[in-house]
Amino acid sequence: MHLHKFEKVWLGVGFGMIIAFLLFMGIGTFAMGMAPPGQHHQIDPDKVASTAPFDKPGLRKIGDNEYEAVMVSQAFTFLPAKMEVPAGATVHFVVTSPDVVHGFAIVGTNVNMTIVPGEVNHVTHTFDKPGEYLIICNEYCGTGHEMMATRLIVK
Ligand code: CUA
Repeated sequence: MHLHKFEKVWLGVGFGMIIAFLLFMGIGTFAMGMAPPGQHHQIDPDKVASTAPFDKPGLRKIGDNEYEAVMVSQAFTFLPAKMEVPAGATVHFVVTSPDVVHGFAIVGTNVNMTIVPGEVNHVTHTFDKPGEYLIICNEYCGTGHEMMATRLIVK
C-alpha cells in the first residue's frame, strides 16, 4: 500500500498526540496522584433538618477571624436569614438543599455554586472589604425564585 508523504506525516502527528495524551494522563495519575475529588459528601435530602450540621444552620467561629457558615438553601429562602462577620474574615460555607436544585452566588465575589439536594457543597471566601454582600439563588427553582436571597454583613 502506498501512502502519500503528507498522510504519513499526519498519521505520525495523530499517533504522537495519542502517546503524549496517554503520557500526560499516566504521569498525572500514577506519578503525581491526581484524581477527581474523593470526599464526595452526601446526606439524605429528606432528613436535612435533622442531620448535623444542618439541624442548626448558622455562623460559627472556628478560628482567628475564621468562620464556618452552615447554610440550607430551600424554596425560597436561605437559612440562616442574616449573618455578620468582621472585615477580613474567612468564611467556609457549607451548603445543602432539602428540596430542589438552587444556586448560591455571592454578588461581587467569585463564589458561585450549584446546590444539589443531598450534596454537601463547600466554598471558602475571605471578605476583605466591609459592606453588605448579597447572596442570591441564581438557578431557577420555582415561583419564588426571584425572592430567594439573603445577606452577609461585613463590618
Ligand atoms: Cu432557589 Cu432559585
